[in-house]
Amino acid sequence: MTRLQTTLGQFSFDSCVMNASGVHCYDRTELDDLRASKATTFVTKSATLNPREGNPTPRYKAVPLGSINSMGLPNLGIDYYLDYLETVEVGESSPFLSVTGLSREETHTLLRKIQSSSYNGLVELNLSCPNLIGKPQLGYDTEGVNDLLTEVFAYFDQPLGVKLPPYFDLTHFDQIAEVLNQFPLTFVNTVNSIGNALYIEDETVAIKPKNGFGGLGGSYIKPTALANVHAFYQRLKPSIAIIGTGGVTSGRDVFEHILCGARLVQVGTALQEEGPAIFDRLEAELRSIMAEKGYECLDDFRGKLHYL
Ligand code: SIN
Repeated sequence: MTRLQTTLGQFSFDSCVMNASGVHCYDRTELDDLRASKATTFVTKSATLNPREGNPTPRYKAVPLGSINSMGLPNLGIDYYLDYLETVEVGESSPFLSVTGLSREETHTLLRKIQSSSYNGLVELNLSCPNLIGKPQLGYDTEGVNDLLTEVFAYFDQPLGVKLPPYFDLTHFDQIAEVLNQFPLTFVNTVNSIGNALYIEDETVAIKPKNGFGGLGGSYIKPTALANVHAFYQRLKPSIAIIGTGGVTSGRDVFEHILCGARLVQVGTALQEEGPAIFDRLEAELRSIMAEKGYECLDDFRGKLHYL
């Protein structure tokens, strides 16, 4: 019998697949759906201090090999998600509360609010939304990440991780990993969408905000996601777990993320298209690959990518 159990910091999970923030996690109804599904846990939509409408529509489009979006962080505000999470038991397992400040001050306000609430589970700090008009992705500013995390860890003592944008240069992996290794992070989640792609149909862009520029997700980005998972697996200290996100549509994709070093695997575009029933399928497909290869648990192959 194959076992899909995994751990992340002090927490353990029955399985290894869950939603990616932004997909099927906007409100109580969607979060309840995830809790009723085979997803092993869930992450909320990234919360800002105040509720946000997000960018003008159309702002999401499914395209042949994935999706393009410029949602602009529509969310119900931190208080809504904290209220919800206060009803969920955090024990051996934990949900993830995703947050993102529109400024450094707002990030601190969010984290202090979490710290003074009764929620004591995992927190994901999103440093990588590419769709905020006029705001850069902090994950690409190594010094900015260093400064922010220095301030955060001066007071924040709950299990915290960061959601990163994709990197494309080995020097950039070295630089950001060196910064991240200085902090008691529980995890890094890699990758967010590939920012500012352009999808064209006939002569026209596919989404309205930013004249069509948006984050690319789905199968287009799997090789980039796997490269980021493995590059961080090679560089981060072992106490920082890796969550792999990007291009997961099948059990084989989950297998590849784990082979590259992921402890949990998140699903975005394919969950949007298929709904929460996808988790049953992914689990069954992963189990059948493991059985065929004679692997009994994820540790049998996690990070054990073969090189030529
Ligand atoms: C969005 O709401 O624009 C997407 C969130 C993200 O990519 O972090």
